[in-house]
Amino acid sequence: MTRPYLAAAALTVALAAAPSQLSASEAGPEIERQTWPYSGITGQFDQAQLQRGFQVYKEVCSSCHGLKRLYFRNLVQPGGPEFPEEGVKALANEWPNQITDGPNDDGQMFDRPAKLSDPIRGPYKNDKEARAAQNGALPPDLTLITKARSVERHAHWTVHPFLMLGDIAKGYQEGGSDYVHALLAGYVDPPADVKVNDGMYYNTAFPGHQLAMPPPLSEGVVTYQDGTPGTVENYSRDVTAFLAWTADPTHDQRKRIGWQVVLYLLVTTALLYLGKKKIWANIKH
Ligand code: HEC
Repeated sequence: MTRPYLAAAALTVALAAAPSQLSASEAGPEIERQTWPYSGITGQFDQAQLQRGFQVYKEVCSSCHGLKRLYFRNLVQPGGPEFPEEGVKALANEWPNQITDGPNDDGQMFDRPAKLSDPIRGPYKNDKEARAAQNGALPPDLTLITKARSVERHAHWTVHPFLMLGDIAKGYQEGGSDYVHALLAGYVDPPADVKVNDGMYYNTAFPGHQLAMPPPLSEGVVTYQDGTPGTVENYSRDVTAFLAWTADPTHDQRKRIGWQVVLYLLVTTALLYLGKKKIWANIKH
């Protein structure tokens, strides 16, 4: 009868002895976690930061990346950068990547300036055009990038359940933001023994360390209106926060309503309990 226990014990020992860490290039580099204004179960976006982040996107990233799942009108709505409507109308009208519309009366498609109801298009009409212009690499649409990326933890497998429980307790959902920030701020000179391929750049955060995006940020490349210093660190944080918002535009509202619902349920529970006490007070049970 003791055999199954023995087998289980042997399996546990074997698993514990198994290599616990993949090599860094297989597993992806360990990404440092950041504190964001929208972190955790109570965090909310910082409107000024979202506005600065949009400025960085517009002046730097939009020359290669689109935000096609975001519409110009979203920039006006509550919970986001909340730019004034007139300003966003003018911005859409001047946006260099125009909207293809049509066909017109001659049966031709044509480009026209964007309106509030249009998506924020990138510079390329399709993925093939993008690849042709970018040396074969595809600059992905950035609307959902903070949801599409995450961070890995390089801990022993026995520790992972506890790390997961910790993340659940803290409401950790910012892995994508942590990664994008680490990527944008992660360009360094390659180590002496690494050969970087033509048209590629060395980055500490990118899995495999070589990617086709040239370092997009450098000190002073964007001039902020609100006096925030123009450092790579600030640009990277701000544009990352903005991209976290584009991936989850109703985030603030969702967290606020969540708390209201919890409060409502607590009060209801208390009332039901008191009601039950009163109803059953004179009945033998
Ligand atoms: C000169 C064009 C160019 C500019 C400007 C640029 N990118 Fe990129 N980006 C690329 C290309 C090309 C790739 C694909 C890289 C690859 O797959 O090797 C990429 C990939 C990415 C990725 C995905 C990385 C991954 O994990 O797959 C992110 C995130 C990103 N860019 C963010 C940004 C942000 C934010 C900005 C503005 C601060 C920006 N990029 C500016 C060309 C650009």
